[in-house]
Amino acid sequence: MANLPFFWQSVVVILTAGGLIYLLTLGISIYFSKASDVHDVSWDETLEEGTNPAPAWWFWLGISAAIFAIIYMIFYPSFGNYKGLLGSSNVKEYVKHKENIDDEYYKELDMLKRSDMVALQFNADAMKLASNTFAQYCASCHTDSAEGQMNFPNLMDNAWIWGGSVEQITQTITHGRKAIMPSWGPVLGEEGVNKVANYVKSIADNTYVKGQHVAGKAKFQQFCIACHGANLQGNPIVGAPNLGDSAWIYGGDLDSIKTTITKGRNGVMPAHKNRLTPLQIKLLTAWLSRNN
Ligand code: HEC
Ligand code: HEC
Repeated sequence: MANLPFFWQSVVVILTAGGLIYLLTLGISIYFSKASDVHDVSWDETLEEGTNPAPAWWFWLGISAAIFAIIYMIFYPSFGNYKGLLGSSNVKEYVKHKENIDDEYYKELDMLKRSDMVALQFNADAMKLASNTFAQYCASCHTDSAEGQMNFPNLMDNAWIWGGSVEQITQTITHGRKAIMPSWGPVLGEEGVNKVANYVKSIADNTYVKGQHVAGKAKFQQFCIACHGANLQGNPIVGAPNLGDSAWIYGGDLDSIKTTITKGRNGVMPAHKNRLTPLQIKLLTAWLSRNN
C-alpha cells in the first residue's frame, strides 16, 4: 500500500482514534446510565413518562465492537501508515489475485497455441475471440459478418480467390495480397470489351450455349486464360478470381464486368503481421476456414 502523505495520515489517525474513543465512551455511558426518577408527566395512574436504564447488552455490544476494532487494527493496516502485524495490504492481495488470473490466462493462451485448427473450431470461446478480433481489425472492409461488400470479397462463401487452405489463408492475413487485373480497354476497344464481357457473363449465369459469343470466347482465350484459366476457374497464385461462379468482388452485372475489364482492378488486402500476433492470425484462420 502506498504511504499516505503526513496530512492525510494525521486525518486518518485522528478520525480512527476519535471514532474508537467515542465508541468506548458510549459503551461506558450506557453502563452507568440510570433510570431517571423524574416522573413529571403522568398519563394515567400507572403510565408515567420517565427513562429506564439502557439494557446491559447495549454496553456489551459497544465494548465488543471497540475490542474487535482494536484487534483488527493491530493485525491489519488501518491506522495511518501502520502496516499491521500480518503485513497484509491491498497491493499484496491484488498482486496475488492478478498472478492467479495471469496464470489462468497464460495457461489458456498456451492451450490455444498448441491446439490444431479443428480443435479451435470446436472451441466456442476461441471462435468468439476470433470473431471479436475480426470485428476489430477486419470488419471495416469485410463487414462484421465477413460477407464482404462491393470491392471487398465475401469470406464466408467457399469461393476463395487466394486459396482456402490453412496455409493460404494464413499467408493472406500475414503478408497481405496485391491483385493485378490489367486494364484491357486500350487493347480490346469498346466493342471487344463488350463481346468478352458478354461471354464471361453467359458462363457465370449458366446461359452459355455452344456456338454463342464466338468472338468473345476467342478474345478470352487470347488475353485472359493466362490468369483466369481456360474454364474461367481462376488461379489462386495470382489471385485471379473464378469468373464462372456467382461470387463477385466488383459486381456481376454486365456494366460492372465491362468496367472491370476496361479499367482493370487492383485490390489490396493489407498485411497484418505487424498488427496481429501469430495466435490471433491462427484464430482468425480457424474462424474463416470453419465452413470449408
Ligand atoms: C495478369 C493476370 C490477368 C489477366 C491476363 C486477366 N485478369 Fe482478370 N483479374 C485478374 C486478377 C488478379 C483479378 C482480381 C482483381 C482484384 O481482386 O482486384 C481479376 C479480376 C477480374 C474480374 C473481376 C472479378 C470479380 O470478382 O469482380 C473480371 C470480370 C476479369 N478479371 C475479367 C478478365 C478478362 C475478361 C480478362 C481478359 C480480357 C482478364 N480478366 C485478364 C488477373 C487477370
Ligand atoms: C483495408 C481493407 C481490408 C482490411 C482491413 C482487411 N482486408 Fe482482407 N481483403 C481486402 C481486400 C480488398 C481483399 C481482396 C484482395 C483482392 O482483390 O484479391 C481482401 C482479401 C482477403 C482474403 C482473401 C479472400 C479470398 O477469397 O482469397 C482474406 C482471407 C482476408 N482478406 C482476410 C482478412 C482478415 C482476416 C482481415 C483482418 C485481420 C482483413 N482481411 C482485413 C481488404 C481488407
